[in-house]
Amino acid sequence: MAAGAFEARLLRRIAQYGPLSVAEFMTDALLHPEFGYYMKQAAIGRSGDFVTAPEVSQIFGELIGLWLAQVWMDHGAKPAVHLVELGGGRGTLMADILRAAKLLPAFGDAIVLHMVEASPLMRAAQEQALASFKPQFHDTIATVPDGPLYLVANEFFDALPIRQFQKSEDGWRERQIGAEGGALIWGLGPVVAPDWISPRFGDVPQGAIVEINAAAEAIMADIGKRIATHGGAALVVDYGDWISAGDTLQAMKGHRYADPLADIGTAG
Ligand SMILES: C[S@@+](CC[C@H](N)C(=O)[O-])C[C@H]1O[C@@H](n2cnc3c(N)ncnc32)[C@H](O)[C@@H]1O
Repeated sequence: MAAGAFEARLLRRIAQYGPLSVAEFMTDALLHPEFGYYMKQAAIGRSGDFVTAPEVSQIFGELIGLWLAQVWMDHGAKPAVHLVELGGGRGTLMADILRAAKLLPAFGDAIVLHMVEASPLMRAAQEQALASFKPQFHDTIATVPDGPLYLVANEFFDALPIRQFQKSEDGWRERQIGAEGGALIWGLGPVVAPDWISPRFGDVPQGAIVEINAAAEAIMADIGKRIATHGGAALVVDYGDWISAGDTLQAMKGHRYADPLADIGTAG
């Protein structure tokens, strides 16, 4: 269905239920079963909308594979471990990791492979790229069985939905997507209770935006608990800078920044 039809549907939803949080908007734009970006196209790579490190060079994944083999030995070379990737894209990173990991055959034999992936298209690509390791697929990390966990995630956490809050003169307000004149527009919701925003943002200037990624916090907590209980290691790679406040929402189309409210579902 055309992007315009998706926008019309969002406009109807807003008319019926009120403005969307950025997180609700992102969830639909990326993962709506029918129209969401990751549900319709596997547009990672030079010919797609954006490129990721594993799509640039196999060295990235092979080094991670060697690091994992070393950590596995350091942890006592357990005979069965769960190797998990969150949001594995086309399966390129995991294929590179496994190529290097197999250099230590006992590690290769110990691996039970799990891919946590929301997109059926990406799952199909991963199934093909990783066939010899018979990956088990999961919608969330919650269904990965307990046990030693070796986990990697490249550009996964920054694809999860965020909520944004802006400091206004009378308090923090949530950034929302509403409608005006038949088009989607940015706006601000009512003032939220002060305890919604961490006190560490107390001194940011008026107009500043802070972001809350509740899904990331929950997944990180789960990973930490599993590793503390069963052993293992996690390597999470994302890109950003050290500043804790600011608007990081961006859409990529054809390797260029795109307006997140334009042609929804066609930009990553
Ligand atoms: C930016 S891509 C990164 C792909 C890959 N890691 C790479 O480096 O090429 C994000 C990946 O996470 C998946 N994804 C996004 N949101 C997800 C979610 N909530 N649960 C599981 N997978 C998700 C996407 O389908 C895609 O495979």
